[in-house]
Amino acid sequence: MTRERIGVGVVGVGMMGRRHAENAARSIPEARLAAVFDADRALAGRVGREIDADACGSLEELLERSDVRVVVIASPRRFHAEQAIGALSRGKDVLLEKPMGLSLEECDRIIAAAKHGRSRLQIGFMRRYDSAYAEAKRLLSSGALGQALLVRAVHRDREETNLPASSGITEMMLESTIHDFDLSRFLLGDEIASVATTAAVLCHTRDAHGHAPNAALNSVRFAGGALADIETYWGAQYAYDVRTEVVCAEGTALVGQHPRSQLAVYTRDGATRDLFPGFLERFADAYRAELSDFVSGVAEHRPPAVSGLDGRAAVAAALAGVASYESGKAEAVATTASPPREPSPRR
Ligand SMILES: NC(=O)c1ccc[n+]([C@@H]2O[C@H](COP(=O)([O-])OP(=O)(O)OC[C@H]3O[C@@H](n4cnc5c(N)ncnc54)[C@H](O)[C@@H]3O)[C@@H](O)[C@H]2O)c1
Repeated sequence: MTRERIGVGVVGVGMMGRRHAENAARSIPEARLAAVFDADRALAGRVGREIDADACGSLEELLERSDVRVVVIASPRRFHAEQAIGALSRGKDVLLEKPMGLSLEECDRIIAAAKHGRSRLQIGFMRRYDSAYAEAKRLLSSGALGQALLVRAVHRDREETNLPASSGITEMMLESTIHDFDLSRFLLGDEIASVATTAAVLCHTRDAHGHAPNAALNSVRFAGGALADIETYWGAQYAYDVRTEVVCAEGTALVGQHPRSQLAVYTRDGATRDLFPGFLERFADAYRAELSDFVSGVAEHRPPAVSGLDGRAAVAAALAGVASYESGKAEAVATTASPPREPSPRR
């Protein structure tokens, strides 16, 4: 029996939202891209024409459509709470990009709206769907490597920051480091107890004076005693470089730099590997698997794999990082009640 495809609406079709819209339109058999909305109406119109979806003139218009069951929110973070609450309270199921909100209070209001609207809410921590990270999680959960003790994570992005010094590290914590806070919680199956963050402007390409830090080192303590050491660096000239190592009592799981292709070229100038230029390339499969799992979970009434409480816990850790940078001390993180859950197996 063929199942009716689930209608998807995408809010914010910039870099990330456009990818979700393309996936819904072209790569996920369970989904049908019904509509897009962007505050930039010309952009929405262009994307709608290119991907064959209606461009709505307002968020209200998109939310009122009966053929939109799932709403993917990929607008800038300051709009997440208001837009997610609007969608959830109308009974729409929402895949909300990270960071879930700007504060714990916003996260709590989003969680309450999902409960009240009896809607499904998932947060866009797509790395959990990456095959190497998912396999590492399975291995750790199986106990084959013994107790997990230590996570070392590297997240180097090519982009430099041009933010003013006064903006501090909020952007870095909520946009980049938050992925590693979530991932280390996910891999260790434990809650973050405290974060100690040191950050600096380390620019070799231009005068760094007056800019916000582009490098941060985060020492993380987990409630159960494990540690994580997370590097975030904006300005890597060579590639988008994301790596994680989980050191366990009886072995180590490494998710390393994936070459984009198996090709290596050796010349008189040395060897080159084709590395990933950005997150859209490195995590292309994960973004597809994330939306596919959420959409099929809607049809099958499965609980979302990355809950509002997961999103809240990552925001709590990111805000503790900001506070620690400002105070110069380790800052405690408010823990949440439920431990992180593994995504359900892909069909
Ligand atoms: N999961 C990931 O790997 C990942 C990667 C990149 C970005 N993101 C997240 O996706 C979100 C968007 O980031 P981006 O890089 O695509 O930014 P972007 O600036 O490229 O796109 C944002 C889009 O939202 C539109 N917009 C602005 N205000 C809006 C509003 N009120 N309603 C609807 N649309 C509005 C803008 O016009 C723009 O087209 C952020 O929350 C970011 O953290 C997640």
